[in-house]
Amino acid sequence: MREEILNTKNSALAQILDSQNLPELDELRVGYLGRNGKLNNYFKDIKGLPTDKRKEVGNLLNDSKKAIEDALEKKGQSLTNSLVNEKSWFDLTIPGIIPEIGSLHPQTIVLREVLEIFKYLGYQVADGPEIERDHYNFEILNFPKDHPARDAQQTMFFDVNGTKFTPGELIPRTHTSAMQGRVMEKSTPPLRVIIPGRCFRYEQVDASHGVEFWQVEGFVVDKNVRLTDLFGTIEFVLKSLFGDKTKIKFATTFFPFVEPGVDAYIECTVCNGKGCSFCKKTGWSEIMPAGMIHPSVLSRSGIDTKVWGGFAFAIGLSRVVTLKYQIDDLRTLHTPDLRILKQF
Ligand code: PHE
Repeated sequence: MREEILNTKNSALAQILDSQNLPELDELRVGYLGRNGKLNNYFKDIKGLPTDKRKEVGNLLNDSKKAIEDALEKKGQSLTNSLVNEKSWFDLTIPGIIPEIGSLHPQTIVLREVLEIFKYLGYQVADGPEIERDHYNFEILNFPKDHPARDAQQTMFFDVNGTKFTPGELIPRTHTSAMQGRVMEKSTPPLRVIIPGRCFRYEQVDASHGVEFWQVEGFVVDKNVRLTDLFGTIEFVLKSLFGDKTKIKFATTFFPFVEPGVDAYIECTVCNGKGCSFCKKTGWSEIMPAGMIHPSVLSRSGIDTKVWGGFAFAIGLSRVVTLKYQIDDLRTLHTPDLRILKQF
């Protein structure tokens, strides 16, 4: 029996070495080690042996089993490896999977354009906090507490319970004009500054309004600044953005921190002046509120009004984007959908 077992083991090892693929190897495993495999049958025969032989044959069988298992394992590994190597070729002619590629958000594209225009006009760029103090957002700009002009700013407030702030002192800024005081306090005129940034208001969200929107504030402080300088600047900026043929109109308006206050409109590009939901059927879209800086804003910020004057304006950046690309709903800009981004 000893002889037979050794022969079986040797032929198993030889066959394993010779096997060409994994299914063949598996067949060998079953043939030798399976429930009815050759080796297993010898285990069954042990019972019939005299007691003194049982141990010896048992050990031999266990060693043989182990040797066969090891051989199977080793050969299995090498067959798998060569399979992997075989598969590592690749066919250059198969069309690849095209990854989804993003692109610049239209708002980023337009912001860069706006920055370029103002760079040409010699403006500097400043950046300010989105969480602002009442002082800079309102007080310094001639909005005393309880002034009705505050209503138009649809302010949201932070819950300051448990902090060192008094209620109402900290707000998500409602406009980038909040940066006028901050910049003026720290610099000496002449100044030409723009401040791009996000603003927040408690708005009824619709096609042309959102709770979150971008403005680019701009202001000039210099000697002999006139209203016509402001008109000229606005016209230059809007024509650079929308083309030379753009129709522009001005109307008077009120903001406490400018006097006089003006609103610049361009003909609605969504409907070409015919009237649509975007322009509220007026054919015009308000795009740059502006005005001559009120002397008390200048003096509160430490600027001598006998020498210096200025003008200020804001560009509704989100609105420029929608008008430039004829997007009839502002909400589209905040939709994280690649199909939208891919169009720009
Ligand atoms: N800050 C004003 C607003 O958002 C707009 C404005 C800016 C008006 C500069 C005049 C001058 O409502």
